[in-house]
Amino acid sequence: MRRDSPPAPLARFSQGVFQIGGHSGDTVCMATITYQGLEVLYTHQQIADRVAEMGAQITRDMNGEKLVMVGVLKGAAIFLADLARAVQVDTTFDFVAVSSYGKGQRSSGAVKLIKDLDEPIEGKNVLIVEDILDTGLTLAYLRKIFLQHHPRTLRIATLLDKPSRRIEKIDADYVGFSIPNLFVIGYGMDYAERYRNLPEICLMSADHPE
Ligand code: IMP
Ligand code: MG
Repeated sequence: MRRDSPPAPLARFSQGVFQIGGHSGDTVCMATITYQGLEVLYTHQQIADRVAEMGAQITRDMNGEKLVMVGVLKGAAIFLADLARAVQVDTTFDFVAVSSYGKGQRSSGAVKLIKDLDEPIEGKNVLIVEDILDTGLTLAYLRKIFLQHHPRTLRIATLLDKPSRRIEKIDADYVGFSIPNLFVIGYGMDYAERYRNLPEICLMSADHPE
C-alpha cells in the first residue's frame, strides 16, 4: 500500500535548526545514535520501506517496458542496488561519475563528467539514480548531456531532495525524502569519502569530530 507522503524522520537536529515531521507541541522522539556517535535521520527500515514504495511506483510507471538505471557514482551506488531490487522491470545498469563536493561540505560549483556511460542510451527508457538533489547543478548537467543522446524517456530518482538549496530549476520524478538544508551522510553518502557504509542516513553536524 503506497502512502501519500514518506514517513517523518526519526530524529530532530539537536541544535534546534531541524524539527520536521511533527506538529508543534508534539513529543519529539529520542534521537537514535550510531556507534560513531552520529544522530540518525532515517533508519535502515525507514529507508527500506520508502525504497520499496519507490520501486513499486517505478514498476507501475514502466508499464512492462525495459529500463536502464544510470547510477551517479559513488553516492548513489547503495541506493541503486536497493532500488533496482525493488523494481519488477527488465533492467540494466550503467554508471556515470561527476566531479563532486571534494573533501568538505561545500560544492565547488563546477560539474565535470569523470566517467561516461558505457552503453548507448538512444531510444531507451533511462532512469538517473542519484543520492541527493541539492543545488541541482549535477542533475541539470547530466540531464542536458543525456538528452543529447535521444533516450526514449528520461526520468530522475533521488533518495533525498533539498529543495531549499536549488540553484538550477530541476525536479526529480521520484523522491525518497525531502529534507531541509542539512548535511547528511550514510547509505552511500559521504563526508570526505567516509561514512558511505552506514546503513542509516545520519546528520553530519558541524561540530562532529573528524
Ligand atoms: P548538486 O549538484 O548540488 O545537486 O549536488 C549533488 C551532489 O552533492 C550529490 O550527489 C551528493 O554527492 C553531494 N551532496 C549534496 N548534499 C550532500 C549531503 O548532505 N551529504 C553528502 N553529499 C551531498
Ligand atoms: Mg551524488
